[in-house]
Amino acid sequence: MVCLGNICRSPMAEGILRKEFEIKGLEIQVDSAGTAAYHIGEPADERAQKELRKHGIDISYERAQKFKYEYFAEYDRIFAMDQSNYADLLYMAKTDKDRAKLDMIMNVVDKGRNISIPDPYYGGDEGFARVYRMLKSAAEKLVEIEIN
Ligand code: 4NP
Repeated sequence: MVCLGNICRSPMAEGILRKEFEIKGLEIQVDSAGTAAYHIGEPADERAQKELRKHGIDISYERAQKFKYEYFAEYDRIFAMDQSNYADLLYMAKTDKDRAKLDMIMNVVDKGRNISIPDPYYGGDEGFARVYRMLKSAAEKLVEIEIN
């Protein structure tokens, strides 16, 4: 799960997806990272943590990290939160195999539409609630894909 700073959208995606997989008993490794280095080592934004606490999800343990090229080998799927993150990851990809692992997260819900999860960093709490709703729908869809 990859966004820009790894303090808002992708840590939320990680927490939501971990919970969804856990509920279904799926042992799938989930992690998140940012394409930028600004916030390395920081916990998720307090507004992101607060939104997820409302849904019984604790992401206080998460610390921001920058996406490393090695993750293309380590993970089966790499999901970008928005079109800019996707473009950055595509630029880092070196092989067709890398590129085949890459997609935008909302394409699991709306295939081929390339819908971005809006960056909530400069907005208010409603932006974080919207990110939650979008990511929850994507997480439910991913679980369905894994089970079927
Ligand atoms: P994220 O949000 O990419 O969802 O973690 C942002 C966090 C920080 C910044 C931008 C977006 N920033 O410019 O510091």
